[in-house]
Amino acid sequence: MLAQTGGTSAMTDILQELDQRRQTARMGGGARRIEAQHGKGKLTARERIDLLLDEGSFEEFDMFVAHRCTDFGMEQDRPAGDGVVTGWGTVNGRMVYVFSQDFTVFGGSLSETHAQKICKIMDMAVQNGAPVIGINDSGGARIQEGVASLAGYAEVFQRNIMASGVVPQISLIMGPCAGGAVYSPAMTDFIFMVKDSSYMFVTGPDVVKTVTNEVVTAEELGGATTHTRKSSVADGAFENDVEALAEARRLIDLLPLNNRQKPPTRPFFDDVARIEESLDTLIPDNANTPYDMKELILKLADESDFFEIQAEFAKNIITGFVRLEGSTVGVVANQPMVLAGCLDIDSSRKAARFVRFCDAFEIPILTLVDVPGFLPGTAQEYGGVIKHGAKLLFAYGEATVPKVTVITRKAYGGAYDVMASKHLRGDFNYAWPTAEIAVMGAKGATEIIHRGKSADEIARLTKEYEDRFANPFVAAEKGFIDEVIMPRSTRRRVCRAFASLRGKSQQNPWKKHDNIPL
Ligand code: HXC
Repeated sequence: MLAQTGGTSAMTDILQELDQRRQTARMGGGARRIEAQHGKGKLTARERIDLLLDEGSFEEFDMFVAHRCTDFGMEQDRPAGDGVVTGWGTVNGRMVYVFSQDFTVFGGSLSETHAQKICKIMDMAVQNGAPVIGINDSGGARIQEGVASLAGYAEVFQRNIMASGVVPQISLIMGPCAGGAVYSPAMTDFIFMVKDSSYMFVTGPDVVKTVTNEVVTAEELGGATTHTRKSSVADGAFENDVEALAEARRLIDLLPLNNRQKPPTRPFFDDVARIEESLDTLIPDNANTPYDMKELILKLADESDFFEIQAEFAKNIITGFVRLEGSTVGVVANQPMVLAGCLDIDSSRKAARFVRFCDAFEIPILTLVDVPGFLPGTAQEYGGVIKHGAKLLFAYGEATVPKVTVITRKAYGGAYDVMASKHLRGDFNYAWPTAEIAVMGAKGATEIIHRGKSADEIARLTKEYEDRFANPFVAAEKGFIDEVIMPRSTRRRVCRAFASLRGKSQQNPWKKHDNIPL
């Protein structure tokens, strides 16, 4: 009896010790630093995980891992977890892996062991086919560890590269992310930032001042606004941690868990054959009057739900996800409201990356076309619009996912070819009766063919050209357009098209990898 009591008591002690150790680990850098974190409007690493994942679904790895550094007295300070919380859990019941850097422990800086924790969950994510969500809040390389920390970064980078196109990778930047540390998020599929409390740059304001004499704040140099409007490094900017995490959940819901799965399907509450009479008058009488392409996207999507990617950058093209009949579809659409919807360097880069993401993860692509051509000018040519435009062309041409295209109005010149035309293996190429598929606008074409004629003559000949070519029927006669459809029934037509393509299988020839013009 006595022995048994002793056993129970020893057991209780052990359980208590575990509980105690867990509690200490969960406190990260301690109450004072947690308070400081909250004081900056930021959540802690664990609070963020709690909001990202379904309640109670988080399973932690490596809670007791501690660094092995013995320089600078570091052996006296070995907090459990080493500045990053890692594990897996679910988002609306679907599995994801997550790491969340803990700024309260050595500023979330990355040590050898911190990197090993991240690598462990990345390896498991690839092996088990689930996305990796990285929450970044870090002072960069653990200064006390020197090259061991740099090695740790490179180990993470290599895994980002290997996981690319295998499982979706999403980065949430929720604090500092500077120096070489930026290159891990940079190689993931999507980056979300939080306004005013996150920044990303290769070299910070002090170095910038020394080298170029520019005076700039961290926010101006690498804040959420800069990266969603100017650099296009980030895909979304949010007001606070809570909003960014909620939006990350929304995005995860749209994506397949890996490249061997089809995109997720969920119950929908919308009529597949919904008729939208208002679309019959979406296109203005005057071909040069803009209209909002987003109206069409919202009217096509299940429940008018659209998750836009890079909403603030290169607004002349719109990219994002909708669901049709409950299944995720990537949308690329020219936006006539901005630069008349023309293609240029920024819009080509933005859309090309999006198309490649969709193709890598078996997400069908819907392309809505109203494009007057490529933007002219020295800035564009000197900036390499030839190479950048080719990115989009290449991306569409190599994509083997179902591709459905609807030309609403202009499809001129090379831009017609680029925007998922029949010739780039478009599966369904529809046009509205208002479509104008031609080598260029009627006036420009007439002025070239009839150079030197009077203004009156040109006007008459332009009209003639318009009547002959500014329509979808010349292309339809050649079979480049499969069908001219009523605008009001676009949702039904597009849904049926994608439904018919569910069994599509198309392979590109074997190659080590292609050589997309970077
Ligand atoms: C070790 C670090 C650290 C780091 C911060 N801390 N960064 N410890 N290595 N890199 C610690 C601080 O000592 C401090 O500890 C705590 O984290 C919070 O830091 P504060 O400075 O008090 O916070 P704040 O004022 O908010 O400033 C945050 C900061 C600043 C801007 C990130 O800490 C900073 O500039 N850190 C150094 C950044 C840096 O130079 N990193 C290396 C870059 S090179 P206590 O105990 O006081 O709480 C790099 C290369 C990567 O990253 C290469 C990859 C290939």
